[in-house]
Amino acid sequence: MEERLVDQQLQSDDQELSLRPMRLSQYIGQEKVKSNIQIFIEAAKLREEALDHILLYGPPGLGKTTLSTIIAHELGVNIRYTSGPTLERSGDLAAILSALEPGDVLFIDEIHRMPRTIEEILYPAMEDYCLDIIVGKDASARNVRIDLPPFTLVGATTRAGDLSAPLRDRFGVMSRLEYYTVEELTMIVERTAVIFDMSVDSQAAVEIARRSRGTPRIANRIFRRVRDFAQVFGSDSVTLAIAQEALERLEIDAYGLDHVDHKLLLGMIERFRGGPVGLEALAASIAEEAQTIEDVYEPFLLQEGFIQRTPRGRVVTEKAYEHLGLIIPEHMKE
Ligand code: ADE
Repeated sequence: MEERLVDQQLQSDDQELSLRPMRLSQYIGQEKVKSNIQIFIEAAKLREEALDHILLYGPPGLGKTTLSTIIAHELGVNIRYTSGPTLERSGDLAAILSALEPGDVLFIDEIHRMPRTIEEILYPAMEDYCLDIIVGKDASARNVRIDLPPFTLVGATTRAGDLSAPLRDRFGVMSRLEYYTVEELTMIVERTAVIFDMSVDSQAAVEIARRSRGTPRIANRIFRRVRDFAQVFGSDSVTLAIAQEALERLEIDAYGLDHVDHKLLLGMIERFRGGPVGLEALAASIAEEAQTIEDVYEPFLLQEGFIQRTPRGRVVTEKAYEHLGLIIPEHMKE
């Protein structure tokens, strides 16, 4: 797969971490989620209980991990990070759970990718704070129940629909993170600039925000690249002209669409007459993984109205033809 700005999460995680706000009051955007979670944190603290389990869902890069870290910090407890795909054996999860201290937060990223056998260990852990394990073999095998400290599970997923019903039902809070507004992203870029000790013109911050697909992770990544250009050009500030030049070179268009989005839209138009086309056929035709298209690229294209999902597959909209400077075909014009 080609490298792409939105896919470089792991490479820049350390830097990303230092950009992450530590308090709810510093966290920009997601106002509804934030104000609800603030109440639940307060209530849990008042009652001196563990906060109820929380499921955070929505497209990648919107701050699910950041929010989890803040939750633990606001509660004044430790947080353990793990992820669905890394929990392979039941012992992995049992070890993590039994090492928790009262009130701690356990963060499970990509919780929809947790194996079923592991998921079943989580049910009693979430519901009754206990572990049911089998000791011994064959005739001497017996169930042993181990008590766990009260804890908070924060699950994160890009696909809430892929969670099994029993798992979903065990979350007391389900919060959907939304794409950020340009205003919110502008504030995030300005905050990042301060952390990097680099000045940024407000027009430049807005330009970066506009082209960040509603996603702080992308805004911060673009900011870092634009800062590279500014520094190498000998400018002590990120100006609008520098931002525009850098964005052009990074092949990020006025809507924030990059070369993969273009490839996807053009693939649908050129190979499938604009659709409808099934996900698998589309993925194969442009050599990307179906799941990556569905989780990473498609949500923003859908939200912005460049594509639509129909019962027969994905279709390109008139807006996409216009944006790409193509003539809208006759069959779409009725
Ligand atoms: N950095 C990344 N996401 C952020 C957010 N939502 N608020 C503040 N800073 C951020």
